Amino acid sequence: MEVTITSSEDMEKLGVRIGQVLAGGEVLELVGDVGAGKTTLTKGIARGLGIVNDVQSPTFTISRVYEARDGLRLAHYDFYRLVDAGIMSAELYESVHDPHTVTVLEWASIVAGVLPHDVLTIQLAPILETSRKVSIAANGDKSRAVMEKLQ
Ligand SMILES: Nc1ncnc2c1ncn2[C@@H]1O[C@H](COP(=O)(O)OP(=O)(O)OP(=O)(O)O)[C@@H](O)[C@H]1O
Ligand SMILES: [Mg+2]
Repeated sequence: MEVTITSSEDMEKLGVRIGQVLAGGEVLELVGDVGAGKTTLTKGIARGLGIVNDVQSPTFTISRVYEARDGLRLAHYDFYRLVDAGIMSAELYESVHDPHTVTVLEWASIVAGVLPHDVLTIQLAPILETSRKVSIAANGDKSRAVMEKLQ
């Protein structure tokens, strides 16, 4: 599935749509360069999950967890500054295997070994200054269910 997004507001709106169809237990990997819009998309996902708190980039804290609708939690990770995956592996493992947690990951290649097979991969590629090509791919039952609800 591929969409073109022409503003950060529309990126957040796409996130809201995604957040609204999540049921818990999904793992979303956001792929794209610095400034591609991963955190912007996550802010929308959080709103779609009913989170009213402002979502801040976890660049320095690596992880942030928010209470969401229906007893769900959003765990937002940014591994950009992580040099040793070891210290985060246990926490991340718990997060991705918790059926009540939605896990959103930025810069996840360092923790690839901890991730399950069933991941919704969202690639964000800049086209122009404010345009992004967003490609969404599912890799298992849970992520496919999200894709189907988005279409
Ligand atoms: N179409 C768009 N979608 C998303 N962001 C956009 C778009 N157009 C412009 N922007 C701007 O680009 C920036 C995206 O920043 P954001 O923090 O979301 O990126 P990121 O991918 O999380 O980067 P990082 O890898 O540093 O965490 C914001 O300043 C946002 O306003
Ligand atoms: Mg970010």
